[in-house]
Amino acid sequence: MSGRLWGTSAPAKVILLGEHAVVYGQPAASVAIDLRMRCRIRSASISSLNGMPLTAHNYSYVSACLAKHNACPTAVITDSDFPSGSGLGSSAAVTVALLAALARSKGNWDEETVAREAFEVENEVQGRASPIDTSTCTHGHGILIASERSDRLLWEMSCDTRRWCVHDLKVPKMTLVIGFTGRSAPTGPLVAKVKRYVDHSTFAREVIEDIGQMTLEGVKQMAKGDLESLGRTMTRDHKLLAILGVSSPELDKLVSATLPHSYGAKLTGAGGGGSMIALTDRPEKVMEIIRSKGGKPHTAVTDVPGVKNE
Ligand code: MEV
Repeated sequence: MSGRLWGTSAPAKVILLGEHAVVYGQPAASVAIDLRMRCRIRSASISSLNGMPLTAHNYSYVSACLAKHNACPTAVITDSDFPSGSGLGSSAAVTVALLAALARSKGNWDEETVAREAFEVENEVQGRASPIDTSTCTHGHGILIASERSDRLLWEMSCDTRRWCVHDLKVPKMTLVIGFTGRSAPTGPLVAKVKRYVDHSTFAREVIEDIGQMTLEGVKQMAKGDLESLGRTMTRDHKLLAILGVSSPELDKLVSATLPHSYGAKLTGAGGGGSMIALTDRPEKVMEIIRSKGGKPHTAVTDVPGVKNE
């Protein structure tokens, strides 16, 4: 690595449909957005993140990436446009950007290897994961996870009995407004909460399957550019996620308040706090409402690139 700095960046993501259910092998759709995580690395006498030494108890994603590459002591410097725990994939973005920077310092990187290693890191640190966040931050643009291969297949991943075919998703022109509740919520405990429910309840397992069905419907509506139907599907998905116990009063408040001015709205990502999205043709109005309800709005630009060198 020598004393040289190696820089990369990776985008944030929003899940349009299918979060949580995708952990069980169900389909899901997501897009990368115009908020980025930048990462620089250089060799150092001890490993650190933004000047704080790494220990066995902190910054587990960063430590796991360094361990995966058998990296010599490394100073990691990050700079992000979006907060961690915001439901926008900050742990996936830092993992993807760091793995690409480590590979770059040794030669070069390719998307599939970065996506695969990033999924392994996230699965290990989070306890249980799907490849949706890490594949979206790696590839950018849009991602569709399905159980069968199609001609837009990027790569396949598997873990225990679960298997995911990760595809490039063609995303129509549409406006998404993100509302950050201001409350950070780490993904691992929410995934574990859903697992406890699913392990003990046939009803919860049926909800997971219903989310998967709904995602397939939403993807067809997206392909037709039928935003009205897609919005309704997103709102129905939010209701099922609330039944699984991953919404929060703040998320429900922002979703309800934005619905009269949107095609549809839902939480995005793990939930429990974090962010919601509204699909709308009135972004200014929706941003104003999110602000008035105490949230932080951002109108997302989509069709952005994935991980890249900086
Ligand atoms: C988090 O952004 C998405 C979840 O489905 C977890 C995962 O897929 O790893 C909740």
